[in-house]
Amino acid sequence: MSSTPTATPTTAPVPVPEEVGCLYDRLTALDTEAVGGSLHLGYWDVDDNDTPLVEAADRLTDMMTDRLRIDESHRVLDIGCGVGQPAMRISRRTGAHVTGIAISKDQIARASALAEGAGLSGRVEFRHADAMELPFPDNSFDAAIAIESIFHMPDRGRVLDEIRRVLRPGGRLVLTDFFERGPVPAEKQPAVDRLLRDFIMTLARPEDYVPLLRDAGLRFVELLDITEQSVRQTFEQMSQGSQEMQTVFDEEAEEKFSPASMIGVDEFGSVLLTAQKPL
Ligand SMILES: C[S@@+](CC[C@H](N)C(=O)[O-])C[C@H]1O[C@@H](n2cnc3c(N)ncnc32)[C@H](O)[C@@H]1O
Repeated sequence: MSSTPTATPTTAPVPVPEEVGCLYDRLTALDTEAVGGSLHLGYWDVDDNDTPLVEAADRLTDMMTDRLRIDESHRVLDIGCGVGQPAMRISRRTGAHVTGIAISKDQIARASALAEGAGLSGRVEFRHADAMELPFPDNSFDAAIAIESIFHMPDRGRVLDEIRRVLRPGGRLVLTDFFERGPVPAEKQPAVDRLLRDFIMTLARPEDYVPLLRDAGLRFVELLDITEQSVRQTFEQMSQGSQEMQTVFDEEAEEKFSPASMIGVDEFGSVLLTAQKPL
């Protein structure tokens, strides 16, 4: 008699920030210029899946930026800033001053060099720091953004506490995160486990967000499940081999994680979350 594999909740080891830093130091040594410098998924409207990943990734940055409601008078914190492409784009589009932090020293060095080369040194700055202990005074930023970084951090609640502390009252936070949309069937679990292991991530659960925000003293504004517009289409594009980011994954993960293995894993989701520090 054969038995049907059943789903078990996904668990992954708690990320260690130093190990995440080393992972991104290694990725920084690869040529990520080809993917436009952003290290996040794209956003495609349902009928525009011909749009290249680089453009779709900028579109996600712009959607998030629009929710920050910022202008040239504002100071923005970018938590987990990568090599600075989103921070530079935010500053160019809005005129805001952006401070980016990342746990990878090599990313910070690359981001600083790119900003200087772009003539943006006065408007964007980058600093090596751990989001679990932000090196900034209370109420020092008007807005905060975290694009695909919180899933690398050991404690989402503590990061949100820190963000609330450094935001001024009324300041907005916009982030994207990966979450378990539903129980992952046993046959799909190995692909998810490989992704979480190779890229040192944990998955949230959909019911986590409201209590996490409440406990951190942040007001819930909006939660969008953007899986269909982001995760699904990014993995499809990367697995077609038409995207340069596939090369980045191949070189980093060798025989391990493959974007194609995530096609059809509809339980692996992405959310766009907006919150606000109460006035
Ligand atoms: C997937 S990349 C996203 C980079 C950037 N937001 C972008 O969209 O291009 C994740 C980022 O989170 C940063 N990160 C991970 N853990 C961190 C931590 N504990 N403190 C600060 N940054 C962290 C990494 O250094 C990396 O820059």
